[in-house]
Amino acid sequence: MATPAPSSSSTEQLAAQITSAPASAYASGLSAEQQAQFEREGYLVLPDFFSAATAAQLKAHVDTLVSQVDLSNHPRTVFKTDSSGSQTQLSSAAGQQAEDKNRYFLDSADNISYFFEEQAWNADGTLAVPLSRALNKIGHALHTLDPPFGALTRRPEVSGVARSLGFQRPAVLQSMVILKQPRIGGQVVPHRDSTFLHTQPSTAAGLWFALEDCTKENGCLSFVPGSHKDGASDRRFVRKEPPARLPTVNNPLPAGASAADLSGPANVGVELTFEGEDRREYPSSDFLPTEVKAGTAILIHGDVVHASTHNHSERSRYIYTFHLIERKGADYPTSNWLQSKKHFPILGEEQ
Ligand code: FE2
Repeated sequence: MATPAPSSSSTEQLAAQITSAPASAYASGLSAEQQAQFEREGYLVLPDFFSAATAAQLKAHVDTLVSQVDLSNHPRTVFKTDSSGSQTQLSSAAGQQAEDKNRYFLDSADNISYFFEEQAWNADGTLAVPLSRALNKIGHALHTLDPPFGALTRRPEVSGVARSLGFQRPAVLQSMVILKQPRIGGQVVPHRDSTFLHTQPSTAAGLWFALEDCTKENGCLSFVPGSHKDGASDRRFVRKEPPARLPTVNNPLPAGASAADLSGPANVGVELTFEGEDRREYPSSDFLPTEVKAGTAILIHGDVVHASTHNHSERSRYIYTFHLIERKGADYPTSNWLQSKKHFPILGEEQ
C-alpha cells in the first residue's frame, strides 16, 4: 500500500547537493541567548536554516512524490484533528475497514505513506479534487527512505541544535511532509507533540522546516509561549494490542512463536486511543502566530502547545518536520503509537 521512494537521478542529485552544502553557524549549536529563549518560550525560530533555493527544490520533490501516489490499493486514509481538540481522527472512504486504515497508519512508521484531506474524497471513493490538491501529509519514514529529506535530516546544523538541547543519543522518528494545499488544507488543533511521542522522562523535540513562506493566510504555526512549563498534561495517544493476540487456552501461540512475535509491530488489530488528559485549555488570544520565510526552521519543545489554521489562501504551505527523542537514559514505551519494525536511527551514528 505504501509507494516506494523514487530513485531517479534527479532525486539522488538533490540529496547529494543538500549533503554537500557548506555548513552554517547552526552546526556549532545554538547561542546561549537562543537556548535561553527556547527554555523560556518552548519554541525557537531559526532563520536561514537552509537556503530558499533548497526549499524550492524540496517543494518540487514533494510534488513528484505526490504525482507517484498509487490509488489502486490505497485505503483512502484521511488525517484530521477535530475542532474540539479532543481527538486525532483517521477515517476512510466507504467500503474500507477500520483495521485497514489503522494498519496503514501504523505501518507508516517504516514507510512513505499518504494521508488525504477530509474533503478529498467523494462518498463513492473517487477523488473530489485533483490529486495534486488532495493530500494532507506524507510520512512517517522520509528520514530513512527518501534521499533528499534524509540528507536534510542528517545535516550538521541538525546535530548542532540537538547537542545544544543536551541530546546524547538523539533518535529521529516520525518524519513527515505536511502540504496544506490552497483552500483545502485542514487545521491542526492545539496539541503538544509529547502526547504523540512520549518518553520517560519527557525528551521529545520537533524540528520543522518551511519549504514555502508560511503566513497567517496559508496556516503558519501558532504557539502559546511558555506553555511547555504548565505541567497540565498527561494525555497520551496510545496503541492497544488486541486481546486476541495474547496466548490463551483457546488461542495458543503457534508452534515456534513467542509472545513477542504476536505483539507490537505486527500492527494487526491494533486500536488507537487517548489516555490521560490535558487540563489546560488556552484562549485563542494566547496563541502567537509565527510567520516565517522559506528556509526557516522552528525548534519545538515536545510539551509546548501549538496549532495551525486551515489554509484559506490561494498559496500552499509545504513543510517538512521530524522529531527527536533521547535514547540514552529515557524509555520509549511500547504503548506509543509509532513502533518501528526496524530501528529509529541515531543522529551521528551508523544508519
Ligand atoms: Fe505538532
